[in-house]
Amino acid sequence: MAIHKELITDIKNQTNIVEVIGEFVPLVRSGRNYLGRCPFHKEKTPSFNVVEDKQFYHCFGCGKSGDVFHFLEEYRQISFNDSVKILAERLGMRVDFGDEGRRPHHPHQELYDIHTEASNFYHAILMTTRLGQLAKDYLYQRGLTDELINYFKIGLAPEQADYLYQKVKGQYSEETIFNSGLFQVSNQGRVFDSFQNRIMFPLTDDQGRVIAFSGRIWSEKDSQQAKYKNTRKTSIFNKSYELYHLDRAKAVAHKTKELYLMEGFMDVIAAYRAGLENSVASMGTALTSEHVNHLRRYSQKLVLVYDGDGAGQEAIAKSLALLEEMSVEIVRLPQQMDPDEFIQKNSPEQLAELLTHSRISKIEFFLHYYLPVNLDNLQAQLAYVEQMAPIITEEKSVSRQDIYIHQLADLLPSLNYKQVELVVNQERLKKRQTSAKQMRRPESSQILETSVIALKSPLLRAEMHLFHRLLHHPSLLAEFKQREDLVFQTPELAQLYLILKEQGSLEPNQLQDLGLSEQESQMYYAVLAEHLPDEIADDEIAQLKQSLRRYHQGEALNRQGQKIRDFSGQGDDQQVLAELAKYIAQKRQMEKEEL
Ligand code: CTP
Ligand code: MN
Repeated sequence: MAIHKELITDIKNQTNIVEVIGEFVPLVRSGRNYLGRCPFHKEKTPSFNVVEDKQFYHCFGCGKSGDVFHFLEEYRQISFNDSVKILAERLGMRVDFGDEGRRPHHPHQELYDIHTEASNFYHAILMTTRLGQLAKDYLYQRGLTDELINYFKIGLAPEQADYLYQKVKGQYSEETIFNSGLFQVSNQGRVFDSFQNRIMFPLTDDQGRVIAFSGRIWSEKDSQQAKYKNTRKTSIFNKSYELYHLDRAKAVAHKTKELYLMEGFMDVIAAYRAGLENSVASMGTALTSEHVNHLRRYSQKLVLVYDGDGAGQEAIAKSLALLEEMSVEIVRLPQQMDPDEFIQKNSPEQLAELLTHSRISKIEFFLHYYLPVNLDNLQAQLAYVEQMAPIITEEKSVSRQDIYIHQLADLLPSLNYKQVELVVNQERLKKRQTSAKQMRRPESSQILETSVIALKSPLLRAEMHLFHRLLHHPSLLAEFKQREDLVFQTPELAQLYLILKEQGSLEPNQLQDLGLSEQESQMYYAVLAEHLPDEIADDEIAQLKQSLRRYHQGEALNRQGQKIRDFSGQGDDQQVLAELAKYIAQKRQMEKEEL
């Protein structure tokens, strides 16, 4: 039975594989991943990895791997449908598989439908009515154009108390109407629209479906009301998880490898006007760990763009605490502005320039953030240095640490470089001691991974490495498609590469539909589980190509050697000499390339 694809995606998006597997297998955090003893084969040293970012598991020992559904299928020996049912129930969704052969109904389909209808309705009110014209004038004056209004599908909730309700009642079940969050019931039992006379921003989920709204006041007479009002929590909207504009930003982030995280809707729109389409906003709440897990699925790197005021700086510090596992840069806006105000006072080009070129690191941020107000006080200066020292030693490069030590010393009237360095050195020592202790632990994943990778043949290692790069770097893939007639020797990789070339990308959630063999999908996950730095080093690809070429030449040489042995077995000395000459020439050529 074909199960509703969107339902599968929904369940997967809302489920954390670490929690599900953690119910059956004890897992320990290890860097970005979780590690445990593999439930599918006997082992003493844990080699079972659960990768939270990408939501899959992979055992370096036995090779078993897959997504959360696959785990339940294998672990509990149940069917795919049953794994769907179990995970749906965990989320409080009722899944009706319906009659055999029929597509099961998505439990939230009506909620999506009513939101789509409301969104079309609000948009039409803005674009075609007289009140809409006034609201549009407000938006124009804030720098929006019809094109932007259409792209963000901005709308207007009419002034009447129950306009939307009158339109949808009878069309949808009562349950849907009351669970949608779009309506409220008064004490007298009268139904009202939740939003009245507000400019409406539709909020979408990862798949672009409208799941809620945020409405902004715009006319003078409402100026006493809350500036923004959001849909309450519903079964399709959780504002601690959703991010504005993520459905579109994620596609761009896939290429640019970074996402901008902003505070408001108008800020995301300002960034879009400046040509930066990979920005999102949390919706009126501080960043949560749910947001972070959500973001990590689409990008390993975030650029924080919060308001330039004190509250914005506080928010950055709080967010940074949640973002330890990610790579982060920060844009500081001048004069207490937010990006929207900045674009108004300057220009889209200047905003683009600011967002792309004046970023600071996390450490530089804290250098400003913790800077004591009263710098005359020696005690305060020392406390400041002690606060900064552990932050500085988080930087991996010692020469960069050194730059920060200089910056810190320059800020302080009573302390010089040597004195600051002394404090940092103590911190370095402390760090080295704890990490030495960790290294001695046998379950240290680092030791484990290197040893397992070392077991692979050089060819397989090089091919997996190259495939990893092709999978994550679309521009490299494009280059290879055009210029290289690459054929992988490992059959699974050869097959996966064919698919990758054709589709342009290959995500874990596409695997199901591809009819891959068990070995092929295991190989895919094995590649995903490899840890490589995000950036490709300068000569990395050239070196990979070189080692693949060396392999092919080695193979040719082996074949040539076999030929010689064959002729010599036949006693054909003439041929033996001729082939030997070729053998030597090939060998020379190889040695020449080595140099
Ligand atoms: N917000 C909210 N409810 C409020 C105020 C704010 O949900 N009562 C959310 C909105 O998502 C808003 C964000 O917090 O975009 C940032 O708030 P703020 O900085 O006050 O608003 P701006 O984004 O500057 O809004 P505008 O430019 O429209 O004035
Ligand atoms: Mn603003």
